[in-house]
Amino acid sequence: MTQVISNRRLFSTRQMETVARKRLPRAVFDFIEGGAGSEIAVTRNRVRFDEIALVPRALRDCSGASTEVTLFGRRYAAPFGIAPMGFADLVRPGTDRALARAAQERNIPYVLSTAATTSIEAIRDIARENLWFQLYPGTDEAMATALIQRALRAGVETLVVTVDIPVPAKRVRDLVNGLAIPLRPSLRTILDVARHPAWLYRAARGERPAMANFAESKGGLSGLAHAEFVSRQLSCAALDWQRLERIREAWPHHLVIKGILNPEDARIAAKLGADGIVVSNHGGRQLDSAPAPIEVLPEIRAAAGEDLTIILDSGVRTGDDIARSLALGADFVLMGRPFLFGVAALGLSHGPAATIEIFRDELLNTLIHLGCASPGVLDRRFLWPRQPGRAAAQAAEPGESLARSAPKPAIRH
Ligand SMILES: Cc1cc2nc3c(=O)[nH]c(=O)nc-3n(C[C@H](O)[C@H](O)[C@H](O)COP(=O)(O)O)c2cc1C
Repeated sequence: MTQVISNRRLFSTRQMETVARKRLPRAVFDFIEGGAGSEIAVTRNRVRFDEIALVPRALRDCSGASTEVTLFGRRYAAPFGIAPMGFADLVRPGTDRALARAAQERNIPYVLSTAATTSIEAIRDIARENLWFQLYPGTDEAMATALIQRALRAGVETLVVTVDIPVPAKRVRDLVNGLAIPLRPSLRTILDVARHPAWLYRAARGERPAMANFAESKGGLSGLAHAEFVSRQLSCAALDWQRLERIREAWPHHLVIKGILNPEDARIAAKLGADGIVVSNHGGRQLDSAPAPIEVLPEIRAAAGEDLTIILDSGVRTGDDIARSLALGADFVLMGRPFLFGVAALGLSHGPAATIEIFRDELLNTLIHLGCASPGVLDRRFLWPRQPGRAAAQAAEPGESLARSAPKPAIRH
């Protein structure tokens, strides 16, 4: 049954964010928290979650409730994983490794970013079968193919191909702080870093961050020159579905396309043979006028059908948000920023595990409140205003007349 861990000081991801804000230099915190443009999409991601009410069912025996789910043939402890995040070691050297370790120990997926500063092979030794790899196909197809081969050799079974950065985003906070490539930190940024000696000390003692997943493919380049080179490679305005078809042919295991917001694209992804999609606006970090993934999710589920695995990210901050996502048609969710704030607030050994446990405890608590013994029971009938459920879930409840409730849109705005 859900238990608060006794030695923990922080009980919500919001609290972790508040502590992280104090611990991290402003430029690093802004890099993580910030979004594109006026940050409308970042706000929208949260607002749309908060609008969704879930209606509990009373008197359903949930004494054996569990958060476990099966995804791509594997049993996971909960229906969520850690989203890919480049430059995560900016929080603290060793962040990628610490997240991977916690994911392995607590049996959730860890998605290593192309832009991580730790190599696929190093993380594979830690995360083992819980490792997924995220690929930016980028401009250089040969380089992407080399990364796919490395992921294959490392035994990765799920490849996540991110398609929502046709061009680098305009992130105003990073521009103001001088945290852009080439790096030109403002005087304010330099002074602020000096005011965070603990962060500075760890950064100075740790390995110098380098683009570890490109070291092999572009030997010789390191440090900033490397980061600049790689950032030019990652975005690609010329990317098209033919390129995705070639990736599908090259990748024999589970393939997930990340950054889908349009139902038509979800349909194409399914037709192309993708096993799943991540409905995502990149945490509001790319297109500022993008819709929140949670509000397009019902249409995407309707377009994609029941066979395509739908993963959602962007703005998930509580167990209730996970339940809301599953009720609206997602099979699984990813969280990004909360894990980095967890590391900043509680350190490498406690932060990642505490963040996973907060999400898992909250989800279990929510499931039991709703009268759901497992995440798979959640469907649209838990939404208010009442919705018709998915066919399979309806069959599970004989005698319940769904006709009594008039179908209405899940989220109105
Ligand atoms: C610091 C940071 C770095 C990110 N780097 C990547 C990346 O390298 N590849 C990718 O596909 N998404 C990247 N993302 C987006 C996340 O994978 C995910 O879509 C997003 O963080 C989800 O929103 P949330 O942070 O509100 O949970 C990054 C996000 C953050 C915050």
